[in-house]
Amino acid sequence: MLRVAVLVSGGGTNLGALLDAVDSHRIENAKIVRVISNNPNAYALTRAKDHGVEALCISPKSFETRELFNEALLSALKECNPDLIVLAGFLVNIPESIVKTFKNRIINIHPSLIPSFCGKGYYGLKVHEAVLARGVKVTGATVHFVDEGIDTGRIIAQKAVEVMPGDTPEVLQKRVMEQAEWIILPEAVAKIARGEISIGEGV
Ligand code: GRF
Repeated sequence: MLRVAVLVSGGGTNLGALLDAVDSHRIENAKIVRVISNNPNAYALTRAKDHGVEALCISPKSFETRELFNEALLSALKECNPDLIVLAGFLVNIPESIVKTFKNRIINIHPSLIPSFCGKGYYGLKVHEAVLARGVKVTGATVHFVDEGIDTGRIIAQKAVEVMPGDTPEVLQKRVMEQAEWIILPEAVAKIARGEISIGEGV
């Protein structure tokens, strides 16, 4: 059984897609063991609790220094002994100590076709604003391993989504979620649980 920890910051629709995929057996041999949010008000925490999944908040605001926050996050992850950590809209840069401890065991969903519209400053609606400002006709989402850089890790899955005339960032964000993120993230976890994608040291 693949033990999965999910890190979130906001609404948690990607977490919802994972929970639904487990419930409907599209993901088999995996259990979401813990959900951690940096934001106490994240609706994702409610989604987790409603599914009987342990949910906790570790807010940087509760710690005197960033280092202490990083240590608390690392401890909370180690404590639940995950095989896989999924960043599902987690708006915190993952410290090197966590990347090293869970080498090739952390994956992220990013709402663009990497290497376009990614890296520092490209998160949430900002990604979709930049897509519309540049006028590209196709965007999408990417699932990738997390390494020490920002959105630089090995790509696991991508799905393209059309940009439509008259799109606003919000409309485009919703389409990218519905047509790409909520599909490729559960699929990637399912493949990892089936052993079709290898994770961990030596990958
Ligand atoms: C998603 O667009 C994800 O790709 C991005 O942040 C958003 C999170 O949405 N990194 P949600 O919390 O899963 O609803």
